[in-house]
Amino acid sequence: MTLTLHIDERRALHDVNPLIYGQFIEHFGRQVYGGIYDPGHPLSDADGMRRDVIAALRRLRIPVMRWPGGCFVSAYHWKDGVGRDRTPTYDKAWCVEESHAFGTDEFMTLCRKIGAEPYLCTNAGTGTPEEMSDWVEYCNEPSLGRWAKRRIANGHEEPYRVRYWSIGNENYTGGEIGAKTAQAWGPFVRESAKMMRRVDPGIKILAAAVPDIDWNLALLRSAGDLIDAISIHGYFDEAWETNALSGYRKSLQAPAQFEQSISAVRGLLCALGLDRRVKIAFDEWNLRGWYHPGIADFSRLDPDHGHAAALRAANEVNAQYTMADAIFAASFLHLCMRNGDIVSMANFSPTVCGRGLIGVSDTGIVLRPAYFVFDLLRNQMGAHLVDSYAQDMAMCDADGVPVPVLDAVAARCDDGALTVSLINRDPEQTVSVRLDPAMPYARAQRFSLVSPEADSANDFDCPNRVHVEETAQPLGAPVQLAPHSVTVLLLFP
Ligand code: AHR
Repeated sequence: MTLTLHIDERRALHDVNPLIYGQFIEHFGRQVYGGIYDPGHPLSDADGMRRDVIAALRRLRIPVMRWPGGCFVSAYHWKDGVGRDRTPTYDKAWCVEESHAFGTDEFMTLCRKIGAEPYLCTNAGTGTPEEMSDWVEYCNEPSLGRWAKRRIANGHEEPYRVRYWSIGNENYTGGEIGAKTAQAWGPFVRESAKMMRRVDPGIKILAAAVPDIDWNLALLRSAGDLIDAISIHGYFDEAWETNALSGYRKSLQAPAQFEQSISAVRGLLCALGLDRRVKIAFDEWNLRGWYHPGIADFSRLDPDHGHAAALRAANEVNAQYTMADAIFAASFLHLCMRNGDIVSMANFSPTVCGRGLIGVSDTGIVLRPAYFVFDLLRNQMGAHLVDSYAQDMAMCDADGVPVPVLDAVAARCDDGALTVSLINRDPEQTVSVRLDPAMPYARAQRFSLVSPEADSANDFDCPNRVHVEETAQPLGAPVQLAPHSVTVLLLFP
């Protein structure tokens, strides 16, 4: 099939917000301990960080990294993780021991190494507005008060100037420690934001929310004037108890579900006249929900927590993460680009280990298919989204639901080059796309993420089964998109 993609570079829509390429790591499984942070490991540096993992993270030019949770944060007390004496505590979110060896200062070291801005998620479960504002003091106050002095005594003279702060994580869900009602949440956020801003009025505050009108209305009415974004999460496979993962065709239904979440929140922000100032942060998203049986469902809480913790190793199986994950990641990032006027941040969840972009073992790392999507779009896509649309859109079967075969966005670079990201969702058919830009170009280059099959994955014995091919693209010739592929084209004037 041949489709035509019309592009009007003269019609700039809005800028692509770099924060949509954000990432997230939580104290869960081996994301931190044994993933990024492994002091004494032969592949670790003097700060205990895995050099191979840091190198892979640096390549993604991650703009912002969210930490330490996630559910973990709702019973986490940050003061346990600073200073010389780190007394282990029982992590009531994930029923394991937390050593606190990796705390605020170690996280800031990580962010410095990978060039990312830190984004701290505070404990709105068992925590208090004072504990949150003390954390702002520790990180951002140059010298006044005991927490700034504590940071200096810990060897960190300069404040960290953390710009992004979230009040809470999913405090709306019954399973979250310290969950709250919609009526209680708004005032709690207000009191927390008030104290945090008293320490540093310049911070950006995001508050845990959900695409639910009652929750968001209560939140925005109570604290809409003190927050900069509301945070929502999305996982298509709700696999926490089952590890049941959708196949390729079923996963094609996911983007529409995430688009609906953005539309629902956008509508409320517009109705309240807040959309110019309060944005949406999709600060946890993934096709795959994390597998942690015996936690979300209290009727199935496993008395042998050690057994349940061991089952979480199932998240680490590289073969589970296929082109379905890559096609979804590209579709979601396109969605964030098209909604760049209201989506101010997005954080893939998680980045390392678990369902992440990078699998880590004792001997090395595996770059999973979705990793290359971030590499391509973050490093090749222009900054200024322009208008484009595909004529005669063909549809493919998403497990009984028709979805558009082609998903495309176009963006101009400051140097005048035009970048076009093209997703062929069809698992079997090659799609030929005739580009119809408004301007002339002298040459084109293409990067295509390709794989033998839709369910192809990378692993230690086949690290490049899914890989990026770089080739010249004959100008004027239709662009041939392989089945289940992501292609970025650069057209140079
Ligand atoms: O399943 C992991 C959890 O997903 C994160 O900790 C939480 O924020 C989200 O519900």
